[in-house]
Amino acid sequence: MKKTILILASAALVAAACDGPVSPQDKLTVNDKKIDEIIAQMTLEEKVEMLHSKTNMSSAGVERLGIADMNYADGPFGIREEGVPNGFQSAGWTLDSATYFPTGSALAATWSEELAYKYGTGMGKEARLRGKDVILGPAVNIQRLPVGGRTYEYLSEDPILSAALALEYTKGVQDEGTAVCIKHFAVNNQETNRGSVDAQLDERTLREIYLKPFERAIIEGGAMSVMPAYNKVNGDYCSENEHLLNEILRGEWGFKGFTVSDWGGTHSTMGAMLHGLNVQMTGSNYLGQPVIDSIKAGKLTEEMVDEKVRQILRVRFAIEAVPADVANTVMTSQPESQQIAKQVAEKSIVLLKNEGGILPIKKEVKSIAVIGQNAVLKTQSGGMGAGVKALYEVTPLQGIEKRAAELGISVDYAPGYKTIAFRWGPAPAILDPLEARSNDEPADPFLVAEACEAAVNADLVIFFGGTNKSIETEGSDRKNIDLPCGQNELVKALKAVNPNLITVLISGGPTDLRKLEPVSPAIVQGWWNGTEGGTALAEVLFGDIAPSGKLPFTFPKKLEDSPAYAMGNFPDPNGAGGDLFSLMFRPDVLKMTPAERQKFLDSLPKPVSKYTERFYVGYRWFDTKNIEPMYAFGHGLSYVDFDYDDMKATAGKDAVKVTFQLENEGNMPADEVVQLYVSRPESKVEWPAKELKAFQRVSLNAGETKTVTLEIPMKDLRYWNEATNAWDLEHGKLLLQLGSASDDIRETAEVTI
Ligand code: BGC
Repeated sequence: MKKTILILASAALVAAACDGPVSPQDKLTVNDKKIDEIIAQMTLEEKVEMLHSKTNMSSAGVERLGIADMNYADGPFGIREEGVPNGFQSAGWTLDSATYFPTGSALAATWSEELAYKYGTGMGKEARLRGKDVILGPAVNIQRLPVGGRTYEYLSEDPILSAALALEYTKGVQDEGTAVCIKHFAVNNQETNRGSVDAQLDERTLREIYLKPFERAIIEGGAMSVMPAYNKVNGDYCSENEHLLNEILRGEWGFKGFTVSDWGGTHSTMGAMLHGLNVQMTGSNYLGQPVIDSIKAGKLTEEMVDEKVRQILRVRFAIEAVPADVANTVMTSQPESQQIAKQVAEKSIVLLKNEGGILPIKKEVKSIAVIGQNAVLKTQSGGMGAGVKALYEVTPLQGIEKRAAELGISVDYAPGYKTIAFRWGPAPAILDPLEARSNDEPADPFLVAEACEAAVNADLVIFFGGTNKSIETEGSDRKNIDLPCGQNELVKALKAVNPNLITVLISGGPTDLRKLEPVSPAIVQGWWNGTEGGTALAEVLFGDIAPSGKLPFTFPKKLEDSPAYAMGNFPDPNGAGGDLFSLMFRPDVLKMTPAERQKFLDSLPKPVSKYTERFYVGYRWFDTKNIEPMYAFGHGLSYVDFDYDDMKATAGKDAVKVTFQLENEGNMPADEVVQLYVSRPESKVEWPAKELKAFQRVSLNAGETKTVTLEIPMKDLRYWNEATNAWDLEHGKLLLQLGSASDDIRETAEVTI
């Protein structure tokens, strides 16, 4: 009772102190008085214990004062399996199988704020069952490179879409009483040299593109913790970056929570202490004893430590610790979350192409040949931090077999190509005959012949291509976006024996479809779609539901068309290789004294990533430069047609408003994701050809028409003025382009702001 009164009283104080409603960040300060009383009772040693890891996935509280440890859990797509205290190896638990949610790019392909929120609630609830306080996610960096190893973890190449989903995910998690740790702050767009690369970019690009998703989740969503990225931004490591952490995050955005370095991403005591880091994960070589020594030497003050502890305790007080005897008493994965995972998967699948209406699968089809190991490979594990030990995972083949059996259709399966199965540790000397040693292996003639034999007599062939988790993974970028292991040869051979062919791509990022596209009348992007991925895919293929996902990134025709490649910015033209970050953990380097280590590190080449393509990321580049992509940002077909009509636009003081009529002209219920892009025909400021500014997923019954309203808040129309170092609104004409994809604009209108 007392506690409630105290909290209410301090909330009232905060409300009175600020003008207007309390911001989500300010809510974190309601217990500051009580927190200061606690800090006054703590020894310096106890305080410093809170600034670094206690185990691989926790940081310390103060048992003596009843302050619980902070327990963290990867990752963005499911509560990660319990590891041993000092590493990532499995702890061998039995109740820690979680729901595997569709990965980031799949969630983004739903373009659904509602589903992103639900996804967050599912993650938040399962975290609580496991006694976790903080989820290491959402992962919201902009997909700058098609080859990016973490493209599948991240959401979109567009900041407005990424920000909207990051915000809802954050709210969903935190409404369940779990904190998010939004990551990786910031400009973490490549895995190549990720631990040392310096991302060099201008302030406008930083603000308008790369910071947007963080900004919304922090300001509007009240994200309680933030994970600074491994890389440097404009010269300084993110974990000690004054501009990012102190000036922008805390200063401009009013962040009141705490920051946690990426695992191994802390680089110095003074840098971290002075420039915004709260917790070193993992280890204590910077934010442990050296902090105490530096205070004794007069280089730091205890008040600095107090401030960091206060920021951590704000979150500790906002998140109720799960009692040890309550946590881990039931299985992590719960039916409610499994249903959310299914709904997300259902709305994420993108129909890229459907020549001759070959999909949905017709009633006349009585036999199906499913070809390709991606139909049977599970995608829950692998990718490092983002792997999930799923309670179950319905593979595409299982989903198809189940639905086909209900419809009396026979299904034959052939692996078609070798692939790399995910496993921890080195590959054995003798591999399974279906396992490839490398993703570059050519097609296997025996497997191709076997697949053709299965395909030749089937009424329909479903080819499963795409990547795997040894290609798209944290820790390395792809060398290219080619389909691996001779998939192009295989699909050509299949088409020659049976033209009734559908391709389903199982991958997290884009692939080069120049060879596949001409031989595949229908193409579906099926993603790494979680626990119920196979069920959702079968529903779409058999026409139980209409596909409604839209691409959250551009599929370039060829890699060289994409901005960072075209500008010669990636791969690093100086060829600086060898990740400094991993070198720092080499046994001989670890043995060095700090001075020797510094000298050694200073002697190494410093990898740089120049962002001279600026804000021309993804479709902003393709549209402005008139380069035709293979499939454009926002593209995704349905089994029905939608009619857009009667667009009206007005510009008010706070927002631009667009209304229009949207009709489902088909004979089944379907969702459309409507997209509103803005161009500036008479602008003096430089802008991309067009930019997404609003979107909405709309559900319509067969034949139904709805009036849809979209709003662009005026603040989203501003640009970062580098002359004044502030946001600015350029008044003048806006061309509003409404459509079904960035390359499928149906209606336009003009307003003046
Ligand atoms: C990843 C993070 C992850 C952390 C803990 C790091 O390697 O970059 O995203 O949360 O490990 O597993």
